[in-house]
Amino acid sequence: MSALLTLDGVSRSFGGLRAVDNVSLEIAPGEIVGLIGPNGAGKSTLINVVSGVHPATAGRVVFDGRDITRAKPHAIARGGVARTFQVVQPFPNMTVRENIAAGGAFAGRIASLKQAMQEAGELAAGVGLGDLVDQPANTLTLARRKRLELAKSLAMKPKLLFLDEVNAGLNPAEIDDALALIRRIAEQGVTIVLVEHLMKVVVGISERIVVLQNGALIADDTPEAVLNNQKVIEAYLGKKYAAALSAEGGGP
Ligand SMILES: Nc1ncnc2c1ncn2[C@@H]1O[C@H](COP(=O)(O)OP(=O)(O)OP(=O)(O)O)[C@@H](O)[C@H]1O
Ligand SMILES: [Mg+2]
Repeated sequence: MSALLTLDGVSRSFGGLRAVDNVSLEIAPGEIVGLIGPNGAGKSTLINVVSGVHPATAGRVVFDGRDITRAKPHAIARGGVARTFQVVQPFPNMTVRENIAAGGAFAGRIASLKQAMQEAGELAAGVGLGDLVDQPANTLTLARRKRLELAKSLAMKPKLLFLDEVNAGLNPAEIDDALALIRRIAEQGVTIVLVEHLMKVVVGISERIVVLQNGALIADDTPEAVLNNQKVIEAYLGKKYAAALSAEGGGP
């Protein structure tokens, strides 16, 4: 089957810094792909490139058969790409329902205001914010604002959804709920790229894992192969596991 998303030699520079460095990658329809790497590796920048927030400075991005390398964010959203922001920024004084409906409007998915508000209510319930639909977004905890961000991106009715650390700050029970929710979204046919530092979550849900380091792609393989990849262990996993061990007081 042909790829839903293709990155061909994509780079994004900020001044002299190559935040994304010559990345080539294909995502097939229906996949759940984990995107991992150390802080500053370029994961969020890669999402910003595809979603048009910080367009590529070199290379080509093709989504659903169309070259979107230079397209504007709203046009890319209308084409079927949604993303959550790592640093969530809801409209603070708008309600949960209104924020979600605004997501649908951004992607041109709104038939009428009434319908958009009704759908927003359903999406809010789907992410566990059913009781809070009429609360202003600025009254929500961070974990709930992350859920709101997810509902907003779902209102865009995407074909491809990037989740940028949408589980950060959740407790273990909330993480299990979030995993089930992500699986339900995938079952509805949405292709998902998940940026996540919790390896339990990434390995538990991804069919394939892509690893970035210093902007470059250093691995693209099954979870099992990535966990045993020497380059990935040295660049990322080794440090993470060492840190986890010392935090538990069990490490050398
Ligand atoms: N708008 C920007 N202007 C200048 N530099 C930027 C900008 N956005 C990102 N960078 C830099 O690009 C590099 C990659 O950052 P990015 O946020 O993509 O990393 P990340 O993999 O998402 O990290 P984290 O796991 O901490 O979220 C970093 O060195 C960062 O400082
Ligand atoms: Mg990031």
